[in-house]
Amino acid sequence: MITCSAPGKVYLFGEHAVVYGENAICCAIELRTKVHAEKAEDVIIESVLGTTGMDIEVHPYVCHVLKKMQQFADIKGIRFKIESELPVGSGLGSSAAVTVASIEALNQLYGCGLSLEDIAGLGHEIEKTVQGNASPTDTYVSTMGGVVMIPQRKKLKTIKCPIVVGNTHKFSSTKELVANVAKLRNEFPDIIDPILSDIGRMSLLAEKSVNEKDYKTIGKLMNVNQGLLDAIGVGSAELSSLVYAARNSGAICAKITGAGGGGCMIALAEDNNASDIVNAIEDVGGSAIITRNTEEGVRLE
Ligand code: PMV
Repeated sequence: MITCSAPGKVYLFGEHAVVYGENAICCAIELRTKVHAEKAEDVIIESVLGTTGMDIEVHPYVCHVLKKMQQFADIKGIRFKIESELPVGSGLGSSAAVTVASIEALNQLYGCGLSLEDIAGLGHEIEKTVQGNASPTDTYVSTMGGVVMIPQRKKLKTIKCPIVVGNTHKFSSTKELVANVAKLRNEFPDIIDPILSDIGRMSLLAEKSVNEKDYKTIGKLMNVNQGLLDAIGVGSAELSSLVYAARNSGAICAKITGAGGGGCMIALAEDNNASDIVNAIEDVGGSAIITRNTEEGVRLE
């Protein structure tokens, strides 16, 4: 049996703006999805969602990985066991992580010789098949790790400070939120377009600060980014409550990560106050976890 794992991701800057070709900065986090795989007689997929065979309804990503990987290997049967530290459907890239880790598990088990670029590309195709549309960001960052400027896919320096991820546990539909922003933009193009390009410019401005490990400046810009996300209508009372709880308990900054509406927010912490921020988020009804940026993308454990 072999085990492969891949990380989730957060957006430091640029969600929503990236849909319109603006820059964004994404960061792989230490929360990972592990896939244990061994050759077997039949297909058996085990996860918190249940134990199934080739069931596209329950395990769509893994089933599509198996179908796709038939191009590279004669896979008769396989036993997959999936364990994830990433909450499902909360904007942390859990579907990309399970997809990428499953591809690498089969790549290793059957000696397919796929490169990291191949894995990221196949992962993106599979996300598109399952979701109808998907940006290549999640699968790319999960495969490569690190801090990545999108769309250039340029690697920036590692973020060293603790990252607190707060979860509102409120359902958030990326598709719906992206559609809402599009509607607002159609109604007020002269107002919304400059906001989106300001967000993009913020990513470009932050590049230098990331590379110089200037977390104070990154934090100021992330807080401005949060204000602009609120301005384009992707905030919520729950997210604001977690964001202000984090800032009031000493976070360097706090903002939504991903589509917004619900889902998760992130805060950058000092080395000595991450647990205060976790407590503050939990006091206002969220759940929180301390993580860090990781340079390691998909890997064989
Ligand atoms: O919530 P997530 O992790 O699916 O991120 C959505 C990011 C958006 O910019 C809103 C959409 C996209 O496809 O880039």
